Amino acid sequence: MAIISSRPQPANSEDPPPAKVGKKASSSPIQTPKTDPSLPNRELLPKAAIGEETQEAKIRPQRLVDYIGQKDLKGVLQISIAAAQGRKDPLDHLLLYGPPGLGKTTMALILAAEMGTNCQITSAPALERPRDIVGLLMKITAGDILFIDEIHRLSRMTEELLYPAMEDFRLDITIGKGQSAKIRSLPLPPFTLIGATTRVGALSSPLRDRFGLIQRLKFYELDELTTIIHRTAGILPVNITPEGAMEVARRARGTPRIANRLLKRVRDYTQVQQAPQITKELAAAALELLEVDPLGLDWLDRSLLKIIIEHFNSGPVGLESLAAALGEDIKTIEEVCEPYLLQIGYLQRTPRGRVATEAARKHLGY
Ligand code: ADE
Repeated sequence: MAIISSRPQPANSEDPPPAKVGKKASSSPIQTPKTDPSLPNRELLPKAAIGEETQEAKIRPQRLVDYIGQKDLKGVLQISIAAAQGRKDPLDHLLLYGPPGLGKTTMALILAAEMGTNCQITSAPALERPRDIVGLLMKITAGDILFIDEIHRLSRMTEELLYPAMEDFRLDITIGKGQSAKIRSLPLPPFTLIGATTRVGALSSPLRDRFGLIQRLKFYELDELTTIIHRTAGILPVNITPEGAMEVARRARGTPRIANRLLKRVRDYTQVQQAPQITKELAAAALELLEVDPLGLDWLDRSLLKIIIEHFNSGPVGLESLAAALGEDIKTIEEVCEPYLLQIGYLQRTPRGRVATEAARKHLGY
């Protein structure tokens, strides 16, 4: 995954520069300095990242006030930030869970900006060997945020190194092997671990229990997604009518990442049509071309529902049989397709398997 580093912003900055987004240059994440105007952030980025202050980075909200939606989560975090700042402590360890694309990484970067600290971003598959996490923890400075994406995929050894690190800010390293092996404990500066997962149930309970805050990100409402699209359109920039923005939002499956992706495709279409702005009609035509239907279902969602309806008599059907019939990975079905289909009531999970609902049958014209 791309490694992203945030440059901390002063708490009262009115116009913060965008977070730097860089390609991963090695297995170690990019570290950024604490707020220090004399230290050019760019010097710490690999060459490939320089000049790649991509639109992606600009589109990400930088501060909590810019972050649209997730009202409950923002309320909880505002209290935590104020309390931690009042005590001059780092934030408690935080576990964010929910479907992909809802803004977990963005929120970690925002928290670093709000706290005025570094954010080191990595993901569990990059921490396969114990030395990977040891290397990261040894580089941490006081108050830093360490963000681990897909935290449910950590190896057992890495997870066990994290327990004392999270609980007592201590790194227990085993030196030597067999009977002569010794454990050396190294103190760590206080830091905040932010874990992100699409599968909170797959976390071991010892790991889950070490998070002081466990928060779910929800799908976004239509009005929130419409506001996000207007904001992104202003950044790109591209002209869009209110009806055009709502049409894109309606097809974005409650997910800002999808909304912004669709907006870019609709922008391309509008540009090629030489139209001055994105209208409802242009948005609909562009998205039909991409096989994104008026509810945001794409080819894979529709195929999944059709297979349940046609091959398994609307279900119930077990996930494995479904994956085999669809020729798709179980994880993609579980983590990418299902959450939204469940949310809109097109799919049900029963003890005997997946069921396509009457609403799904109707939508697909059965
Ligand atoms: N872009 C992507 N997600 C966003 C959000 N939650 N608020 C504002 N802009 C966004």
